[in-house]
Amino acid sequence: MAVDLLLGLQWGDEGKGKIVDVLTSNYNIIARFQGGPNAGHTLVFNGKKHVLHTIPSGIFHDEATNLVGNGVVIDPVIFKKELDKLEEQNVDYRKSLLISRKAHIILPTHRLLDAASEASKGKAKIGSTLKGIGPTYMDKTGRNGIRVGDLELADWKERYRKLANKHESMIAFYDVDIEYDLAEEEERFFEAVEVLKSLTFIDSEEYVFQAQKNNKTILAEGAQGSLLDIDFGTYPFVTSSNTTAAGACTGLGVAPNKIGDVFGIFKAYTTRVGSGPFPTELFDDDGATMAKVGHEFGATTGRPRRCGWLDLVALKYACQVNGVTQLMMMKGDVLSGFKTLKVCTAYKYKGDTIKHLPYNIEPENVTPIYTDFEGWSEDLTSMSEASQLPEALNKYIAFLEKELETPITIVSVGPDRKQTIFRN
Ligand code: GDP
Ligand code: IMO
Ligand code: MG
Repeated sequence: MAVDLLLGLQWGDEGKGKIVDVLTSNYNIIARFQGGPNAGHTLVFNGKKHVLHTIPSGIFHDEATNLVGNGVVIDPVIFKKELDKLEEQNVDYRKSLLISRKAHIILPTHRLLDAASEASKGKAKIGSTLKGIGPTYMDKTGRNGIRVGDLELADWKERYRKLANKHESMIAFYDVDIEYDLAEEEERFFEAVEVLKSLTFIDSEEYVFQAQKNNKTILAEGAQGSLLDIDFGTYPFVTSSNTTAAGACTGLGVAPNKIGDVFGIFKAYTTRVGSGPFPTELFDDDGATMAKVGHEFGATTGRPRRCGWLDLVALKYACQVNGVTQLMMMKGDVLSGFKTLKVCTAYKYKGDTIKHLPYNIEPENVTPIYTDFEGWSEDLTSMSEASQLPEALNKYIAFLEKELETPITIVSVGPDRKQTIFRN
């Protein structure tokens, strides 16, 4: 069976966790392929909210297997906290959660290096989640990292010490004021590593290969969004992994010709958390309304998310880079009550009007060109059928489908699992 992918098309937080949870009943295996605890995926059901960081969003379904793939980076301390929360909810994860031996481990000193790097950048900081993501992927590509499989080796603590010592000298090199008590952090880390070691480690690419051969259905769950991709995002204000479709191939060991559907998720408007260019960002009451009604605060860091109109130029780019076959539009309910909605359909760029994402989208290079749409006033949150959606919203959807040449098959009208409308 082909492997389906589910990816964020903007700057993250599109609602991936919710939709993976909704779709899990159609799949045998849910697999994360990149990112780590920088992600915060929110699921809401039975009146309760759950936030997952590293664990795949299929974990609340008994019948699904959840795989943390080789492309993911794992912080044992945060992972343990997630497991503790699952235990509180009586989720029996021991049999259903598998971890790739090739996934890399985030060390306490990776987090400190992240903090030192950000502090040294001053105003030019990335606005990282400070979870140690960048330094861990640097050690991966630098061929210095410690992997999950290494934890099974007798000498892994010696390797840990050597790497942590190197990190400490690098932190000193940054010459910034970072206060830390490494001994205390290490105590928590080693305790959490023992918990991690009590879970099932596997050779995940072989597992994924056999699963495909045996016609198991697999959904790969992306983290972050396409505009945060290390290659195709708004570099350097990006994360350190490939968040786009290709990342699922390298992050799980899926051959490119074995990819099936690519589900692209986007908000009906746009948000971004952290630094970096955002052409359609709003600094007025409209932006404040989106933030307030949409509860736009980061699920991992609690930081306020920047809000703005939908950017179709960027969305089209993300559809192309990922080969999106179906679109899912989230948070349309947040736009209820806006008299007029704007969609950026082109950019003014160096005197020209362009419809593709150029190399540089800083405000001094790019001015968005908008098309106006009539808004709707109806509350969408209790709607459950496509036939109930207001005419003005249907027009908005039809325009996006035409411009993106891709059908919108799900319209989400609230955070709950049940607030999901399937079209066609
Ligand atoms: P993810 O990182 O892509 O999984 O998204 P997050 O969980 O970080 O952020 C999405 C936020 O929007 C969460 O608080 C969700 O509960 C919420 N959410 C998801 N879909 C909808 C929707 O259709 N309407 C509203 N109002 N909230 C939604
Ligand atoms: P989910 O999976 C939104 C952003 C950070 C920062 C940049 C780099 O919940 O959509 P990093 O810690 O990765 O080095 O930070 O990327 N970022 C996210 N923004 N959602 C996320 O994940 C994010 N993960 C990282 O805010 O700008
Ligand atoms: Mg999130």
